[in-house]
Amino acid sequence: MNLLEENQPTDLEQMVGLSRRRFIGAGALCGAALFLGGNLLSRSVLADSVSAASGSLLGFTGIPSSTADGISLPPGYKASVLISWGQPLHAGGPAFDPSGKGTAKAQELQFGDNNDGMSLFPFPGDENRALMAINNEYTNYRYLFDHGGAPANAEDVHKAQAAEGVSVIEVRRKDGQWQFVQGSKYNRRIHGNTPMRFGGPATGDAWLRTAADNSASKVLGTFQNCANGKTPWGTYLTCEENFTDCFGSSDPQQAFDAGQKRYGASVAGKEVNWHQHDPRFDLAKNPNELNRHGWVVEIDPFDPKSVPVKRTALGRFKHENAALGETRDGRAVVYMGDDERGEFIYKFISRDRIDHKNPTANRSLLDHGTLYVARFDEGDGNPGHPKGKGQWLELTHGKNGLNAAAGFANQAQVLIHARLAASLLKATRMDRPEWIVVSPKDGQVYCTLTNNVKRGEEGQPVGGPNPREKNVYGQILRWRESADDHAAMEFDWDLFVVAGNPQVHPGAPKGGSDNVTAQNMFNSPDGLGFDPDGRLWILTDGDYSNAGDFAGMGNNQMLCADPATGEIRRFMVGPVACEVTGIAFAPDQKTLFVGIQHPGETGGSTFPEHLPNGKPRSHRTPHNSLI
Ligand code: FEO
Ligand code: CA
Ligand code: CA
Repeated sequence: MNLLEENQPTDLEQMVGLSRRRFIGAGALCGAALFLGGNLLSRSVLADSVSAASGSLLGFTGIPSSTADGISLPPGYKASVLISWGQPLHAGGPAFDPSGKGTAKAQELQFGDNNDGMSLFPFPGDENRALMAINNEYTNYRYLFDHGGAPANAEDVHKAQAAEGVSVIEVRRKDGQWQFVQGSKYNRRIHGNTPMRFGGPATGDAWLRTAADNSASKVLGTFQNCANGKTPWGTYLTCEENFTDCFGSSDPQQAFDAGQKRYGASVAGKEVNWHQHDPRFDLAKNPNELNRHGWVVEIDPFDPKSVPVKRTALGRFKHENAALGETRDGRAVVYMGDDERGEFIYKFISRDRIDHKNPTANRSLLDHGTLYVARFDEGDGNPGHPKGKGQWLELTHGKNGLNAAAGFANQAQVLIHARLAASLLKATRMDRPEWIVVSPKDGQVYCTLTNNVKRGEEGQPVGGPNPREKNVYGQILRWRESADDHAAMEFDWDLFVVAGNPQVHPGAPKGGSDNVTAQNMFNSPDGLGFDPDGRLWILTDGDYSNAGDFAGMGNNQMLCADPATGEIRRFMVGPVACEVTGIAFAPDQKTLFVGIQHPGETGGSTFPEHLPNGKPRSHRTPHNSLI
């Protein structure tokens, strides 16, 4: 979402005015790339003379910004659509109905809406076959319903809930092209009403108890699934982000406590309106239902009957993604960002070691461990490339003042109110942490801080890794854990890139860091991905007005960086008014998969011109930009 003023992606314009999400498989076009290099961007195939001479990881020619309504790529690459919202997953399944008259039941059997984070799970021993687990973050009422408005009845709400969650699909490569396999026994929808259970310390706690679930151990559904993680034991982590937006209250006078307020509870909700036709989302009737969402959910994509598990040990907040690491002694680490202005960065360390020989032995690994939150120092204040030190603060009941007197009766309450606990520990309020990734080469951790127009206000001081007041461009934070061990409690940080516009604002800070030029500039970095060779891919969700502070930046885009040199080149530009989000790599790196969200969000797009069933797309009604 383009969220410079409002950092929640569920404002009315966004909920009702967006278009279908597409996957783009960007594969090497020329035969040489397919047969010589073996890697997506192998410089032995595609290097230009400059990068080959300098030893850069970047073996392609950076492309200009663009405002065109299509996919722009460097010479030698091509893109094609893999799957779209509404495609039937099963043999004989209900076809996509562009009229909006399709039922909730049909949507439960179709690819979900608004794809975001995703992971690829290759079949062992078969390089041409894989499963993909893909988040479906939210839905578009304008296109979901034939009436084009907010849900009018319970069936509408069920349809909206069915459009969110996760889609698991099988993909196969035929003649060099990855394709969706309709009818695969692995294809599955997990949505807003799928039965799942809790795991970890909050399970059974009174704060999770509802009339429908006295055990506080079972829960229906996952929704607002933003980005993702992939465990070394072959499971998928889907992250619940703006869950609060789905709740409201039938009591216009309802007062909310500190915990409810901190997670954004309101009577009106965010125009999602589920509470009007589904009492589960009515905070006047089911206040504890709010506590049952905002978690990381673990899914086994290879078992279509498996019950997803909400891993409460990882804390409850507006989760962006989950980046896996491993301590030197073999325990699992999960780095996580909480995407709201002034919220925090967390890491979880498991109690037990990963069993790499027996993947199923790790099925409860994320239920036992310790959660930490990050505090950063002020750093050296270098406007172009600040750096400093930081520490991890333990979020364990009975430590650091997290006790009953402070509002935390047990560990469950620390986890359910992780934001309040982290504030008590004086963690650093960040510029909207989005994706986090761990370098496969040196273990350094990278996190997008997408933007924060309130930096300098609301108790968010300027400084450290958040160095700019009214930050409209964003930055990418990087840190190295002490002794290169993910178990460390201290780290060194720097800003890998400070985005900016050197044409509009020459020099730091608004022109950005030295590795930002008129040729590669961008704003609002959001998605991140490391390929196996250690290239850092940067996906943007920013202001695409191409005017004012953003003049010359064009549409949202995907760039590629060499972490060693800091060099950044633009690899792809998306269509008009889209967001580029979600990334996965085929094992041989000849294909990468990337999500194109909401082309035409503000009108002006016909991408990709036709629906898969041959009918023209049923939208393109402009609505207001949020900027
Ligand atoms: Fe769903 Fe923070 O992006
Ligand atoms: Ca995002
Ligand atoms: Ca974003």
